[in-house]
Amino acid sequence: MPQSDEFGREVTGIRVSLTDRCNFDCVYCHNEGLGDTRGPMDPQDEEMTADEVVRILAVVAALGVETVKFTGGEPMLRADLPEIIARTPPEMEVSMTTNGTFLPGRAAVLVDAGLDRVNISQDALDREAFAELTQSGAYDRVLEGVEAAVEAGLTPVKLNMVVFEPTAGYVPEMVDHVAENEGLRLQLIEYMPEIAGHPEWAIEIDRVHDWLADRADRIERREMHHRTRYFVRPPGGNRRSTDDPTDERREGLVEIVDPVENAEFCANCHRVRVTHDGNFKGCLNRHDDHRSMGSMSRAEIRETFTETVTERVPYYGEYLVQEDGEWVQNEAYIDRELPHPQD
Ligand code: 5AD
Repeated sequence: MPQSDEFGREVTGIRVSLTDRCNFDCVYCHNEGLGDTRGPMDPQDEEMTADEVVRILAVVAALGVETVKFTGGEPMLRADLPEIIARTPPEMEVSMTTNGTFLPGRAAVLVDAGLDRVNISQDALDREAFAELTQSGAYDRVLEGVEAAVEAGLTPVKLNMVVFEPTAGYVPEMVDHVAENEGLRLQLIEYMPEIAGHPEWAIEIDRVHDWLADRADRIERREMHHRTRYFVRPPGGNRRSTDDPTDERREGLVEIVDPVENAEFCANCHRVRVTHDGNFKGCLNRHDDHRSMGSMSRAEIRETFTETVTERVPYYGEYLVQEDGEWVQNEAYIDRELPHPQD
């Protein structure tokens, strides 16, 4: 049975950062709330070992956590990623968020190890824009990575596109792209300025909802996930893209992830995070809720996880509340001390 917090939110997912190293330096990157991204590419001492990661997963799986997402930095910079995936409790669903550059030639190994799904950051279909956004020229490599993931059977491959001023103009093209290509889905992620800075880059996500509602042929609202699914057809009508005679026109799927100032989003959050240096974290947006697992014995992991779940609160709507149209910190959480401050 999953554990729940005071707000009735069951924790069924865990997001584990395996490293904060990255070969990209995306201008929007929140780096899981930990600040600077690009740094030395060599393994760093503070990173959890494979044994520690696997121990955490075994403990939380026994406490009802069903899914794990490996993230970074760039998780594929860890040479022991296949080992970690292979040693993940078999009942857990395993996914990964990656920039895609290391997938060519390595996707199949990860699938063999037990990887189920992948999210690949692709913010534009335009070489120059891509280079500017990621501060890297690896555009072709990423496209090859997407292809490698599809070929390895990691379908549907989710493309993560951060929507903000510099990328908003590329949304229509990216939507056509997933409409036309079997095996791809698009996640339009509202830019989160809370930890990345630059509030002036943010755009009104409702405009994107409206535009997409117009563009879509079919819309599904899934109450359970509080996410709207937009089904889109390729532009230009009845193109047949498969040999299946019943599949006259293919359909792509686009979702919008819009957490900013969205109390409903937070009310439906079912995950906790683990930082690359081995702290539990109840909310992406908070810096004051890191909890050390100490020496990472099973008992310490269990205790720290339970405490993290018990103490987690919805960021928008509880940790922050609205006063005269402004989001302000709820007085109840000012000066609240953590029982186990970060090391
Ligand atoms: N706002 C929204 N999404 C972000 N990501 C990273 N930084 C931000 C941000 N400031 C997303 C990217 C990446 C995933 C790990 O997080 O889409 O794929």
